Amino acid sequence: MTAPVARAKTTGLHVGEAAPGCAKVDPIIIADNVRRSFGGVHAVDVDHLEIPRGAITALIGPNGAGKTTLFNLLTGFDQPNEGKWSYDGHDLSGVSAYKVARMGLVRTFQLTKALGLLTVMENMKLGAKNQKGEKFWASLIPALWRKQDDDLEDQAMELLQRFKLDAKADDFAASLSGGQRKLLEMARALMTVPTLVMLDEPMAGVNPALTQSLLDHILNLKDDGMTVLFVEHDMHMVRHIADWVVVMAEGRVVAEGDPHEVMKNPAVIDAYLGAHQELDLGVVTGRIDIQDADPSASPEASASASADALVADGIAEEEGAAAKPAEPSSSHNQEDSK
Ligand SMILES: Nc1ncnc2c1ncn2[C@@H]1O[C@H](COP(=O)(O)OP(=O)(O)O)[C@@H](O)[C@H]1O
Ligand SMILES: [Mg+2]
Repeated sequence: MTAPVARAKTTGLHVGEAAPGCAKVDPIIIADNVRRSFGGVHAVDVDHLEIPRGAITALIGPNGAGKTTLFNLLTGFDQPNEGKWSYDGHDLSGVSAYKVARMGLVRTFQLTKALGLLTVMENMKLGAKNQKGEKFWASLIPALWRKQDDDLEDQAMELLQRFKLDAKADDFAASLSGGQRKLLEMARALMTVPTLVMLDEPMAGVNPALTQSLLDHILNLKDDGMTVLFVEHDMHMVRHIADWVVVMAEGRVVAEGDPHEVMKNPAVIDAYLGAHQELDLGVVTGRIDIQDADPSASPEASASASADALVADGIAEEEGAAAKPAEPSSSHNQEDSK
């Protein structure tokens, strides 16, 4: 085992001022006027958004901000009321989820979709694209697909080893823990050798002992040349691995920028306060245990105290980082895992 190496952030991603909808030097996704409402709720109401290629972008925002709905739209799992978007120069509006995945854009789900009654290996094989055995006539001639099936199995085994799931290859997916299922979903997404990977709350439900390895896996995707867009509530993780942050609130993009700058942006703090979070911000960011939050405090007072804490936290962390630049990236595990 090699010790985790602190990896440099990718900078210089945007053009001009870091502001909602700002242009990127090399965008992989460009979305325009994408709107989706459910009844009277404007779940997604995005004027313009560009996602930078070859970087890790975090999509953050309070519950109900529209992050999952935006993921669903961009990946063809839902249709917008209006709007256009392109991926890698191809117009994707109206393209089905299946075709989007074939084009190299894969996503995972906030609630995992691993198929419990299939084995881990079978789940992995389902993730592959261009399987000859799927074509009806070809499926009748085993010689045509056997070789490919062996290759797929090798590829799947390699990925399962990387995610430390190889010993579980023949187990039913239903027997995995929640965290392992998240890993399986990520491994399965990689079977398509994607260009852009979209992860919806990859850390949710994951045992803290696994979070550092999950962080490393996400950083590895970038090292392998992939673009990553992920939704996450844990601000500590966002600061650690994101090169760029997009903040949504009430369907709109309210801020964008470098992770350290964005956390100090008043629009971001407002977004969290305005959402009438029933939870203390410290809980949302994973910094304060639920039992530590004072239930007798008014929601407004507690939210505004948390917003102050969020800012102080960002500053303290920056100063701390400046003071001891060689901080090992695994050190946050202990503080966060309580
Ligand atoms: N299928 C749906 N039917 C009705 N309302 C929905 C549906 N999906 C999402 N919404 C609403 O859209 C808003 C955004 O939800 P969502 O995209 O899940 O937010 P987030 O992922 O940021 O928490 C919420 O108000 C949610 O209740
Ligand atoms: Mg969501």
